[in-house]
Amino acid sequence: MEQILTIITNKMRKAFESAGYDASYGQVTVSNRPDLCEYQCNGALAAAKQYKCAPIQIANAVVSQLDAADYDMVEAVMPGFINLKLSGAFLQQYLEGMRTAPDFDVKKIGQGQTIVVDYGGANVAKPLHIGHLRPAIIGEALKRLHKFLGYNTIGDVHLGDWGLQMGLIIAELQERQPELPYFDPAFTGEYPAVAPFTVDELEEIYPTASAKKKDPEFSHKAHQATLELQQGHRGYRAIWQHIMNVSVADLKRNYDNLDVYFEKWLGESDADPYIPAMVDDLKARGIAVLSEGAWVVPVAEESDKKEIPPMILVKSDGSSIYATTDLATIVQRMQDWNPDKMLYVTDKRQNLHFEQVFRAARKAGIIAAETEMEHVGHGTMNGADGKPFKTRDGGVLRLETLIADMTDFVRAKVVENKIVSDDEVEETTRKIAMAALKYGDLSNQPTKDYNFDMERFAAFEGNTGPYILYTIVRIKSILAKYGDWENLPIQLPANASAKDLMLSITKLSPTLEAAVRASAPNLICAYIYELAGCVNKFYHETRILGEEDKEKQAGYIALIALAKNILETCISILGFSAPEKM
Ligand code: ARG
Repeated sequence: MEQILTIITNKMRKAFESAGYDASYGQVTVSNRPDLCEYQCNGALAAAKQYKCAPIQIANAVVSQLDAADYDMVEAVMPGFINLKLSGAFLQQYLEGMRTAPDFDVKKIGQGQTIVVDYGGANVAKPLHIGHLRPAIIGEALKRLHKFLGYNTIGDVHLGDWGLQMGLIIAELQERQPELPYFDPAFTGEYPAVAPFTVDELEEIYPTASAKKKDPEFSHKAHQATLELQQGHRGYRAIWQHIMNVSVADLKRNYDNLDVYFEKWLGESDADPYIPAMVDDLKARGIAVLSEGAWVVPVAEESDKKEIPPMILVKSDGSSIYATTDLATIVQRMQDWNPDKMLYVTDKRQNLHFEQVFRAARKAGIIAAETEMEHVGHGTMNGADGKPFKTRDGGVLRLETLIADMTDFVRAKVVENKIVSDDEVEETTRKIAMAALKYGDLSNQPTKDYNFDMERFAAFEGNTGPYILYTIVRIKSILAKYGDWENLPIQLPANASAKDLMLSITKLSPTLEAAVRASAPNLICAYIYELAGCVNKFYHETRILGEEDKEKQAGYIALIALAKNILETCISILGFSAPEKM
């Protein structure tokens, strides 16, 4: 279905034409004076210049050509604005179209296009910490949004599993257990099937090793181990496989916990087989050049306002780095999936890295001219005091701990308010906690920093996830009391708040399109907050279950049922869901 704005713009264009003016002046916009009207057209003002007459004269002529049945009000006002309020009949028909079609008849603008969403960004051997919350939540929402709009979506976690952190662990392990067969060059047998560490040990080994980076001797060993791992050292590859097995299982469990699911669990290491041919090719074509012993791809452009240094392809010691694997990953994605677009969700501090990689990919012809590359760089989540989030002893907070804290906080409320029976406490708590956490994040523009404020995020009132859930639950309970609510047709608006609610419902499609264009889930949050507000206002001003006119009542029910379905669809795009009771 076309969006309302398109429909009434088309009608306005026809009216300009019938009145003898050029159709191009018929663009309608959402009113910037909602106190006066819902939509407006300022085309008469511009047309007046071409036709050399008073704008109000044109506006009047155009208005007389419009179909009065579409509008409650259509007015030409000085100096030449056309102000519109849609008629109840128009809205009724539009909403009935939304109600009876799959997915509210939202246009599948992504049909036939494939998009890779690279998000999550977990690093093996390290537990997820709070810095991983935003890329996981924002990436999942963007992926689901694309999917809803018809795109073929591939979410890839792109594990950090190939860089120096692997060398650090290997070097540290060698210091602790030099007798292991992985370190014996003469060993030709089969390596043990069981890892020489547990996930907990691994999570201790890594930071210990990382802290020793300053020691030049240890650092050299770690770099050497990284290089040899990448070059295929048999023992190191076996250790690497152990690290992967132990760590990925743990990461999966953590992402599951957040309702974040990846189609692909690929990582930097999966790009490795693509590196040699890619590097040879870039060297042969002169795209990569030697600079101080390293191979680099110059990516500066004349129009640059700040300096963009060359992308390092191969370091002087022959090893590959983050940018190398990212470029090779693009080779793999183009070969295997040929996507129309790649979207990367990481901390915005990686902006330069992606700028370099995208430019190198374009320069080298690894992507097509029309392949879209976008980095959604997000801001930082700080503590409630606005300072960087730290544990009491100054360490980095684990994501698991943060989720557990939020869950405990919500559980206490659920129990105290006796919201559900004992056996439903956990399920209800989990849903509310997820909504609090995710909406608290997603309602901010991705690039902005925000403060994590448990009390505010978990509040049942205000611009919060739980408030949205509460609204859904309230509607569900009315519907349950009403009974058979599923197939009731939309009626004319019964009062002003019904009309406001109907207008809000029509904004679903423009909101989703704007959100996908700007990679901004916050627009969906703002929309459902407005929609929930309209529902609650309607509820307070209208006797729904007490209404004696059964026909009228059925219209109320049809309207709130549609609102509920839309709210539920939107929160499922955002990555959470509503409980039965709250
Ligand atoms: N593992 C990286 C990090 O922790 C994030 C990976 C993001 N994706 C990518 N293709 N580089 O910073």
